Amino acid sequence: MSEQENKKVIFSGIQPTGTFTLGNYIGAVSHWGKLQDEYNCIYSIVDMHAITVRQDPVKLRQHTLEAYALIMACGVDPKKSIAFIQSHVRTHAELNWILACSTQFGELSRMTQFKDKSAKHPDDVNAGLFTYPVLMAADILAYKADLVPVGVDQKQHLELARNVAQRFNSKYGELFTVPEPYIPKVGAKVMSLQDPEKKMSKSDENPNACIYILDEPDVIIRKFKRAVTDSDSEVRYAEDKPGISNLMSIYSVVTGKDYASIEREFEGKGYGDFKLAVGEAVSDHLKPVRDEFARLMADKAYLKECYTNGAQAALNISRKTVAKAYRKVGFVDSM
Ligand code: TRP
Repeated sequence: MSEQENKKVIFSGIQPTGTFTLGNYIGAVSHWGKLQDEYNCIYSIVDMHAITVRQDPVKLRQHTLEAYALIMACGVDPKKSIAFIQSHVRTHAELNWILACSTQFGELSRMTQFKDKSAKHPDDVNAGLFTYPVLMAADILAYKADLVPVGVDQKQHLELARNVAQRFNSKYGELFTVPEPYIPKVGAKVMSLQDPEKKMSKSDENPNACIYILDEPDVIIRKFKRAVTDSDSEVRYAEDKPGISNLMSIYSVVTGKDYASIEREFEGKGYGDFKLAVGEAVSDHLKPVRDEFARLMADKAYLKECYTNGAQAALNISRKTVAKAYRKVGFVDSM
C-alpha cells in the first residue's frame, strides 16, 4: 500500500469461522476490493475475536488461512491493501488493555451481541466475550481509521469504539481518530432463503437457507430452486413480497440489472424460471472466486508471504499509535 496522506483510512475485519456466506460476500467482502483505489485499506482476519466462543484449534487454524485466501479471492489485493491476521500483530492486544481501562463495565453490559451470545452459550460467558468490543475498538483505533465498513449488527460496537476514542482523547489529549461507519452504496442485506424475514446466517438449522460462496454450482442452483417465495406468481419488488424481493436484490447485485429491468425480463414467467436464473447467475458470478480460492490454497508459500508482509506493514503503523498511547497514560519509555 502506498501511504498517501490525502487518502482516508478504512479498516475492516472478518471472523474466520468457516466459509463466508453469500450474505458476508454481498454485504461486506465484495466491497473490500472496490475500496482499494480510493482509500488506504487495512483488512484483518480477526482470529482473536473468534476464540471468544469455543473453537476447535485445528479448524480455527484452517479457517483462518481459508478466510485470508477468500478475501484475496474476493478482490483484496495485498499489494494495494494491508491484509493480515490479527494475532500476528501484537499491538492489538496491547492497545486492547489500554482501551479497556477507558471502557465502562456499564457500557459493555448494554451490548446486544454480548447479551445474545451469552444467552446462546450460558456455559461459557467468558471475559473475552464481554470485552470483545474493546478489542474491536483497538483494531480500528490502532490505525486511526476514518471509516469502518460494518453491517447493522456491528453498529453498536462501532458506536462504542467512538465513545472510547473520545473518552481517551479527552482524558489524555488528542490521539485517536473518531471513526465513522461506512455504508456501502449497494449491497442490501441478504435474507435467509427459507425465511426471508431473517438474515442469511450460517447458524441456520436449515441447510437450504444459506448459500456459501464456495458451494458447487449444482448446490447453489438447488438451494435457489427451493427458496421460499410468496403467494402470487409475479416477479415484482415489493415490501409485502419479502421472498421475491430478496431474490431480486441478490440477482440485481450479481448481474448489475435494476429492479425495473428484472421485472420486465420475467414478465409472464413463473417463479420457477426466475429462481433458476438467480441460481445460475449467482453460481456464474462466484466461479472466479472459487477458482482463485483453489489456486491460492494450492500455493501456501505465496499465501504465507502475503500475510507475513501484511502483518509487518500493520505493525509498522500500529506500533506508533500504541507507543503514543503508552506515553500519554504515563508508562516509562522502554527503549
Ligand atoms: N466484530 C466484527 C464482526 O463480527 C469483526 C471485526 C473485528 C471488525 N474487528 C473489527 C469489523 C474492526 C470492523 C472493524 O463482524
